[in-house]
Amino acid sequence: MSQTVLQARDLTRHYEVSQGFMKPKAMVKALNGVSFELKAGKTLAVVGESGCGKSTLARQLTLIEAPTSGSLVLDGVDIARASHAELKALRSKVQMVFQNPYASLNPRQKIGDQLGEPLLINTKLSASEREAKVRAMMQRVGLRPEHYYRYPHMFSGGQRQRIAIARAMMLQPQIVVADEPTSALDVSIQAQVLNLFMDLQEEFHTAYVFISHNLAVVEHVADDVMVMYLGRAVEVGSKEAIYSQPLHPYTKALLSATPSVREEDRRAKIKISGELPSPLNPPTGCAFHKRCPFATERCSQEVPQLRELAGHQVACHHAESINA
Ligand SMILES: Nc1ncnc2c1ncn2[C@@H]1O[C@H](COP(=O)(O)OP(=O)(O)OP(=O)(O)O)[C@@H](O)[C@H]1O
Ligand SMILES: [Mg+2]
Repeated sequence: MSQTVLQARDLTRHYEVSQGFMKPKAMVKALNGVSFELKAGKTLAVVGESGCGKSTLARQLTLIEAPTSGSLVLDGVDIARASHAELKALRSKVQMVFQNPYASLNPRQKIGDQLGEPLLINTKLSASEREAKVRAMMQRVGLRPEHYYRYPHMFSGGQRQRIAIARAMMLQPQIVVADEPTSALDVSIQAQVLNLFMDLQEEFHTAYVFISHNLAVVEHVADDVMVMYLGRAVEVGSKEAIYSQPLHPYTKALLSATPSVREEDRRAKIKISGELPSPLNPPTGCAFHKRCPFATERCSQEVPQLRELAGHQVACHHAESINA
C-alpha cells in the first residue's frame, strides 16, 4: 500500500459577500463538504463545470486560504493543529501550478533567478549549488541552457508553463495541485505538457491533484477521478470505473458531452439543460435535482450523501435504479 499524503474530510469554504448597501451579507457556499484521499505518486483528477468550486478546493489544499470547516491532513500533519514551523515546512511540500503561467512568474526577474528562489528561501545550498540544480531542472523540463538569462515575456505559452512546472518541482514537493494547467495552451502543446507532468511524476513520485474541465485530458493523466457539482463531490472512483461505468447522472452527462474518437465509446446520451445554480442560493435536497432527468420528490428534499456502490462512491438517491 502506498502512503496517504493528503486527506480531506468534509472540507468546506464559504465566502461572505456583500449584496449592496444596507442589505444583509450573503454566504457563497463555494466548497460544501468534500472528502477524499490522495496517495503518494498518484493523480486525482477533479472535474466539473465552471463555478463548481475546483479552484476554491485548490486554494484550500495549497494553504493559500484556510477552510471554513472540515479537516485537512497533509503528510500526516493536521493543518488546524499545526505550528508555524510545521506550516512553513508543509508549504514547500505542496506546490501549485496555475492555468496562466504568465501571472505566476515575475516579469522583471530572469528565469534562472526565479527558479533558484525556492532553493534560496528553503535550503542552505550555495549559489553555485543552486545554479546547478536550476540548470538540471531546466534541462529536465525541456528548456535550453541559454534560457537561464531570459525574462518571462521572451517565452511562448508552452515554455512558460514548463517554467512554472519547473518552479513547482524545485523543492521536490510531495504534492502538486495543478489548476487547469493546460487549458490555455494549443492542443499540440497540451499533449507535450501533459507528458511532462507524467514523466516528472514517475521520476519524483509526486502526487497530483489535477483540475480540469476537459475529460479527454483527465483520461490521459488520472488514476482516480472526483466529479464535483456545486461545491460537493457527486462521484469518486478509479478512472477505469468512472469512464467505463459512470453511476451519477451528472457524470453520465459530462461524459456524453465529451466527443469520443472511438465509435464503441459513444454512450447513450444524457443531456442536461440549464445552468449551474448559484452557490449563493443552492437548491434544496440534491443540488443537481433541477437539471436531472431522473429526479423525484425525494431528490428535492433530501441531500444525498456519498456512498459505496459497485466500487465507486456516488451521491445519488437513485443510483441503483438508474444503473439497473
Ligand atoms: N473570494 C471569493 N468571494 C466570493 N465568492 C467566491 C470567491 N471565490 C470563489 N467564489 C465563488 O465560488 C464559486 C466557485 O468558484 P471557483 O473559482 O472555485 O470555481 P471553479 O470550479 O474553479 O470554476 P472555473 O472552472 O470557472 O475555474 C463561484 O460561484 C465563485 O463565484
Ligand atoms: Mg477555477
